[in-house]
Amino acid sequence: RSDTATDYYEITQRAADVEYLPGLRTPSWTYNGSFPGPTLITRSGRRAVVTHRNELPRPVVVHLHGGHMPADSDGYPGDTILPGDGSSVSHDMSVPGNPVVGSRDYVYPGKQRAATLWYHDHSMGFTGATVYRGLAGFHLVRDDEDDALPLPKGDRDIPLMITDRSFAADGQFAYPSLAPNLTVPGVTDDHLNGVLGDVVLVNGAPWPALPVDRQRYRFRILNASNCRRYGLRLDPPPPDGDPTFTQIGSDGGLLSRPLTHESIDVAPAERFDVVLDFARYAPGTRVRLVNTLATDRTGEVMCFDVSDRTPQDTTAIPDELSSVEYLDPRQAVRTREFLFQSQNGDPGWSINGEPYTPGTVLAHSRLGDLELWRFTSDVHHPVHVHLNHFQVTRRSNGGPGPYDAGWKDTVDLLPAQAMEVAIRFTDYPGRFVFHCHNLEHEDMGMMADFTTI
Ligand code: C2O
Ligand code: CU
Ligand code: CU
Repeated sequence: RSDTATDYYEITQRAADVEYLPGLRTPSWTYNGSFPGPTLITRSGRRAVVTHRNELPRPVVVHLHGGHMPADSDGYPGDTILPGDGSSVSHDMSVPGNPVVGSRDYVYPGKQRAATLWYHDHSMGFTGATVYRGLAGFHLVRDDEDDALPLPKGDRDIPLMITDRSFAADGQFAYPSLAPNLTVPGVTDDHLNGVLGDVVLVNGAPWPALPVDRQRYRFRILNASNCRRYGLRLDPPPPDGDPTFTQIGSDGGLLSRPLTHESIDVAPAERFDVVLDFARYAPGTRVRLVNTLATDRTGEVMCFDVSDRTPQDTTAIPDELSSVEYLDPRQAVRTREFLFQSQNGDPGWSINGEPYTPGTVLAHSRLGDLELWRFTSDVHHPVHVHLNHFQVTRRSNGGPGPYDAGWKDTVDLLPAQAMEVAIRFTDYPGRFVFHCHNLEHEDMGMMADFTTI
């Protein structure tokens, strides 16, 4: 449904059996009965209203990851949708927020450029469990600038959601506990580092094979795994010896110019928008997308079966993709330091020594001010900030890394590293969160509030 300025979407969150592995039904929590949830496509400059109805037996929160929207539609942990059937679960009154019963309208003003976003659950303390059970979907924002480029379009513009899951013999998800929280009996130290699966799913299917013609394709790669990082490579690499991937976009949309990579490291929640040209392969080649950071059976992600069709390819990758404003760190008005580490002497995770308490604000930022945020780590932490995209200015081992280009909302903070990003919040005053996107770290306290005025 649409009117002159607004497009309307409806999503029902409900339990459903989903077939991930052939012949096995897996009880899941879903958006509209499928995994991934329906791909929402909205237009920059138009308002989108997404009505989420909660038919699950627990409170939910929806967050549009990478979205630029007012605080009351951002999915703050206290802004829950309680089950509509009036079932037992009540709101934890110690968490500030505005709980509603049954359904909530999320309003996205559309004041942002084309980008690959995704929506997922953000329940406080349970995000790992709910996302693992299926609450994730793509939300693509399109605009005239991106549409006008001669990049592959239509059925050659394909979002790829990569997740890892473990299944019990009867098909049930083998997630260790609803609350991966160390006070819950039966949950061991193993989960402190996050929950890994041993089956890689791409758009919900294990090791899928995609038939491709000998032409260019655009893939919007999203790592929606709870904590697994992937090192993506093609095997065999293109026989011409030139770099494999041409990256055209990152979390926040198009790069200014294309960038090439032999392999791409993708931390949880990061997006890489890449073009692959299968005309570089001989007809009949099976090209495997492999994971060089594999453990167990997670070395194979998917494969592409190159057909003998070579349609005339009218696409191109322009040298100039977009004009991207450069955030100059020398113009910053303040610097903030955030330490991401396990909580001293206590199992769990924290930012600046504070395990997450809603309402405890670690940064009060002024809208329009350019700030530098420095993140320091003990182990790997994919750090994510809500509300605005940012730019990586440096890492302790030098400048921005090879996967830091463009507008980012999630960065792969490496072990024992410090990095700095330039960020400027705009438009919406209110309360938001930033956190580690290793979802078990997030659930175990590695999150904090910031406010904008
Ligand atoms: Cu993708 Cu606050 O999360
Ligand atoms: Cu987010
Ligand atoms: Cu972490």
